[in-house]
Parts: sequence; structure tokens; C-alpha cells
Amino acid sequence: MSRPAPETRIGVVGAGLMGAEIALVFALGGMHVLLHDRDATALENALTRLGALLDRGVSRGLYTADQRATALDRVRPASDLASFGDRDLVTEAVFESLEVKGEVLAALDKACPEACVIASNTSTLPISTLGAALSPERRPRFLGTHYFSPVSRMLLVEVVPAFETSPETAAWTTSILESIGKQPIAVKDVTGFAVNRMLHAMLIEAVRLVEEGVATPEDLDAACRLGLGHPIGPFALMDNVTSGLCLQVQEILRESHGERFRPPALLKQRVAAGYSGGRGKPGWLGKA
Ligand SMILES: NC(=O)c1ccc[n+]([C@@H]2O[C@H](COP(=O)([O-])OP(=O)(O)OC[C@H]3O[C@@H](n4cnc5c(N)ncnc54)[C@H](O)[C@@H]3O)[C@@H](O)[C@H]2O)c1
Repeated sequence: MSRPAPETRIGVVGAGLMGAEIALVFALGGMHVLLHDRDATALENALTRLGALLDRGVSRGLYTADQRATALDRVRPASDLASFGDRDLVTEAVFESLEVKGEVLAALDKACPEACVIASNTSTLPISTLGAALSPERRPRFLGTHYFSPVSRMLLVEVVPAFETSPETAAWTTSILESIGKQPIAVKDVTGFAVNRMLHAMLIEAVRLVEEGVATPEDLDAACRLGLGHPIGPFALMDNVTSGLCLQVQEILRESHGERFRPPALLKQRVAAGYSGGRGKPGWLGKA
């Protein structure tokens, strides 16, 4: 854990929406990254996507052509975990399933060196429960690092220690995240951590306002953008991430925190009727 930040060797497992960009932000921060996915096509697509994202960034003046080339060069695909034996920090961003994540964490525990810190990017699973998949020796070096989409633009990371995470692991991980320009905040291991609890409290209330006929989704989005300074309104956000995913998260929050997170009837009804949003599909505001 004592290697200087730029020399930290990074691993990422799961090359989907989140994992690919998590790999990218470390590479842009000057670190070498191994990116693994069990699906070879997903891995290949992730590298293509990162190239396109960097190209757009270059044309908008966010990165230089040199930064683009070096960052892409620093992300290496890994067809299995055998090459993770020299990693310092490995983040898993595989499917949101206790079973899938448990298997990946157990495999990482075996593949990674003793000093390596293992992090989970789960949004809803308790970090301490995930830690049970690891050996007792690893648990002090395991924690949650919850990134936000799109990872290359959103600076926040919630750093969530599990029951047995050592203070050194939390402090070291925080400093590595700061070194790549992220803004980590410390959050206790509670369902939804901090951000999703605040977000879904607002989304639930926004849907209730529509149920009560107080205002339209379009006007409520305008209210949040123009009155509260939010970059995107709640209904555009739900269409983007899908109302189906919001419904799932609210059910999980309700189970842990009670009735205040009960999903509104209108949200359930719209999801069941196929108005969940997602790319090109009908949502609250027409086609997302
Ligand atoms: N999408 C978001 O906005 C968001 C935000 C914060 C956190 N998260 C969390 O990040 C994680 C990943 O989400 P995502 O949206 O990137 O999902 P995704 O479906 O886009 O990607 C998951 C990837 O994991 C791979 N994978 C699955 N099982 C694997 C295994 N056993 N070994 C190796 N690779 C495996 C899949 O092939 C896929 O490419 C989830 O835990 C999710 O809850 C998502």
C-alpha cells in the first residue's frame, strides 16, 4: 500500500458501463490498469467505447491528443485474473448480485497479492455482507468505493468501510482517489449509502407531485433545473437510468429504511405498462 500514487497498479473487474470508465479515470490519472471481463466481447467493446469517449473529449478540448493516446495505452485487457498478482488496488464492477459479486471477490482474494486493497462498486449491497466472501486476512483491506455515472465526469466517490476495514485502507484509498482528481466522501455502510437515499427521497416526492396533479413532469424538471440549479430534472433522470431501476432501488431502500421509501403507485404502474425509459424507449418525457 506504500507505492507512490502514480505507480499504483490498478485492476478493474467488469468492463460494463461503470467498470470501463473506472479503468479510464485511473489511466488518465497516470496509473497502469488491467481491465477484466468474463465476456470477451464486452471487454473489446469497452475499449472501443473508451477510445470514442476520449475522441469526443479531445474534440471538446477536455484532453490533449497525447493524453488520449497515453490513457488508452495504460488500459490493458486481461482475459483472466492470473495477471492480477501484482495489483495494488482492484475494483469490482460486475453485475449487482450478491452471488456474482461473492464469486468474483473470492476469486480476487486468491489472485491478488496480500497487500492489495479490494473495492466494490456496489450501489445497494451492504459492503460488510460482501466482505463475508473474503478471507478474514483480506477483510481489513476491503471496502466500498461507489462511483457515479458517467464516471469520467462525476467527481464524487462514496468511500464505505465495512465492519473490518482498517482505517489505513480507507485513508489510503481516499488519497489514491484524490490523486486522480476525485472527491471522495466517507459514508457509513447503510443501504443506499448517502447519495441514493437523498436522490430517491426526491424522486419519490416528484412522482407523488405528479400523482396529486400538482404539476407536470416537464414543469417539475424545469423547477429543479431553474429553481434549484440541478443539471437535470428528476423525470429526465428517471428516463435516463430507467424507472425500472429506480423502482428496484426504492424497494431495497424500503426494506431497510421503512415506508418513507415506498415506491409511488404511479411509478409501479408506468414500469409495468412499459413506460420505463431507457435509450429510445418511452418514459415520463416521451422517448428518452
Ligand atoms: N449504472 C450505474 O449508474 C451505476 C452507478 C453506481 C454503481 N453501479 C454499480 O456498478 C456495478 C456495475 O454496473 P454497470 O452498470 O457497469 O453494469 P453492466 O451490466 O454495464 O456491466 C457489468 C459487467 O460485468 C461483467 N461481469 C459479470 N459477471 C462477471 C464475472 N463473474 N467476472 C467478470 N466480469 C463479469 C459483465 O460481462 C458486464 O460487462 C453494479 O454493481 C452496479 O450496481 C452502477
